[in-house]
Amino acid sequence: MSAETNSSESRRPAAPLRVRDLELRYTAESGVLGVSFDVAAGELLSLLGPSGCGKTTTLRCIAGIEDPEAGEIAIGDTVVSAPAKGVQVAPDKRDIGMVFQSYALWPHMTVADNVGYPLAVRRVPKHEVRDRVAGALAMVGLDGYGTRAAPMLSGGQQQRVALARALVYRPKLLLLDEPLSNLDAALREQMRGEVRRLQQDTGITAVYVTHDQSEAMAISDRIVVMNQGRIEQVGTPTEVFHKPVNRFVAGLVGPANFLTGVVGETTDAGATAVVRIDADGPRRVASRTAQDWTPGAEAAVCVRPNQFAVAAAEDALPTANRLPGVVQTAVNMGLHTEYRVQVGATRLLITLRDDVGVGPGDRVWVGFDVGRATCVRP
Ligand SMILES: Nc1ncnc2c1ncn2[C@@H]1O[C@H](COP(=O)(O)OP(=O)(O)OP(=O)(O)O)[C@@H](O)[C@H]1O
Ligand SMILES: [Mg+2]
Repeated sequence: MSAETNSSESRRPAAPLRVRDLELRYTAESGVLGVSFDVAAGELLSLLGPSGCGKTTTLRCIAGIEDPEAGEIAIGDTVVSAPAKGVQVAPDKRDIGMVFQSYALWPHMTVADNVGYPLAVRRVPKHEVRDRVAGALAMVGLDGYGTRAAPMLSGGQQQRVALARALVYRPKLLLLDEPLSNLDAALREQMRGEVRRLQQDTGITAVYVTHDQSEAMAISDRIVVMNQGRIEQVGTPTEVFHKPVNRFVAGLVGPANFLTGVVGETTDAGATAVVRIDADGPRRVASRTAQDWTPGAEAAVCVRPNQFAVAAAEDALPTANRLPGVVQTAVNMGLHTEYRVQVGATRLLITLRDDVGVGPGDRVWVGFDVGRATCVRP
């Protein structure tokens, strides 16, 4: 995308978003069941979670397409929704740009007419529409496409048109609901980089809905992890990946193994938890933790697949934690080898870069260091 995106044309003061105790219940246990988060001015915040967890409903409440039952939503200094006070500002008065999974372009219109539509309905003079549409198309790398019929574009190009349309009237807030999920994997990766660059260049505040953890990790300043209508954790990509609060978050943000057991004690002023597990007899594994524990509490030690060492003999392991296991499968993936190793009742997924010369049926020792594992709520 061109340097034009940095011009005063597209840059405007960004507004923060505040969502407090938002509720919209479809049934007792579905919908949005009390959600609070803040998005700073100019920040891109992702709502990440499995299908049905309430991401779209949250976004639609922010947009004003749904009427929440409780809570408060403010964009900048303006409260746009507060059912208890009878406040519910109409969607078109909220100054929001939206991009959906289906591009929702009008097929009978040209690209330029699609992009210019939000300006036309706001009765912006024609010459100004022309200039701003040209600017918006340049911003998404589609100069010269204005006269094409919208359906004559590729999926990626149509999604760029949808982005240009959402940004052309310089909204205070950009809402994106799975905008890339109709694209193939390679294009999705390219476009997510472009969405991020566009968001940063324009300085707009954005809420980005996705159920794809790698997408959320790649483009977000912070991630809100949702589950069954509620928030599990809010944090930077690094925080939710390395300091997940529970098993759900740990498993959602990346491949993970969980060794379950009970906490024996904590050391290092609470920074390390020792968990007793059963693996061919009682064993103790130590891992870092960001939570308070009482001895006897049930816990899960999360270890990412690439954090293990594997050896034929226990004393060949360089790691602090060592567990006996049996190799179930070994699959060469080119860049690494993927092992399944049975340790007690747990079948671990382990990826190793180097061939350690073990195969199915072999008794082995698997190890990991204290700092490479996280003790979380089960
Ligand atoms: N209009 C509706 N009437 C009844 N239930 C609804 C309605 N819209 C959504 N739901 C329910 O509310 C819950 C949250 O739906 P929502 O669309 O917000 O999920 P989502 O996180 O966006 O999921 P997905 O990733 O599949 O898009 C789901 O259980 C869904 O079935
Ligand atoms: Mg959805």
